Amino acid sequence: MPDHKIEPVTIPSLQTKKEKNEKIVALTAYDFPVAKIVDEAGIDIILVGDSLGMVVLGYENTIPVTMEEMIHHTKPVSRAAKRGLVIGDMPYFSFHLSLEESVYNASRFLKEGGAKAVKIEGASKKRLRLIETLVEAEIPVMGHIGLTPQSIHHLGQYRVRGKAVEEAKSLIDEALNLEKSGIFSVVLECVPDQVARIITEKLKIPTIGIGAGPFCDGQIIVFHDLVGLLDGRLPKFVKKYLDLQGLISQALNNYIEDVKEGRFPDKSHSYHLKPETLRLIEKDKPRKK
Ligand code: KIV
Repeated sequence: MPDHKIEPVTIPSLQTKKEKNEKIVALTAYDFPVAKIVDEAGIDIILVGDSLGMVVLGYENTIPVTMEEMIHHTKPVSRAAKRGLVIGDMPYFSFHLSLEESVYNASRFLKEGGAKAVKIEGASKKRLRLIETLVEAEIPVMGHIGLTPQSIHHLGQYRVRGKAVEEAKSLIDEALNLEKSGIFSVVLECVPDQVARIITEKLKIPTIGIGAGPFCDGQIIVFHDLVGLLDGRLPKFVKKYLDLQGLISQALNNYIEDVKEGRFPDKSHSYHLKPETLRLIEKDKPRKK
């Protein structure tokens, strides 16, 4: 039975937020328990990002992530999300061959994964044609420009995009072209805040920033970065709200100590027989000589 008290976030409601100047809050999730917490907290957009490859599957970058892995992780997130809009991230090489194969792959996020939309990196002419075709096939698309991690080998390194005049102008053009092609929102990743502001003012659709400053219509961040679940150097744009890795390590140390010292399990974590049952069992015990 649907819960009638919960009003799910929709693409039109995100658009309304932009028009009313209300910030959109987005976060990634990759499994059921985290997606449930994220959804219940009131996050508007839950992205099953291909960052999955790095933060969950242990790959060095997002390139190896497959369609099967993405669908596998999108399903539990969709099952958990009662309010947030679930978006599936199209992994590298799932939208680079024929239009037909790309549309089929995108449709899998909706039909099998239960997502409401897909996200696609890039804004080349070919990408714009693909987006038009997806929108025509009733598949809502979120764009993603600026730093596009799937182009890592082309870019050479993860760095801020749009610092130079020509690069900034081409980012603005890319955003406008994407809007024309029919996307409902766009992620701006690692873009100077002034460039993000110009794009946000020029577009009618919402911009969602990650490392793009405060002027975007919304913000997104990777869940594991926000809660401090991984070690290593975090990018400048990440704000770590919790040291979950530290908390988990502390809990594990306590568990190890408790088991070694015989403090766990104690009476309260054990099952017990009734005294009369115990007496009957002990009565039948073979006597020691
Ligand atoms: O894969 C991802 O998590 C993303 C977001 C960081 C925007 O693309």
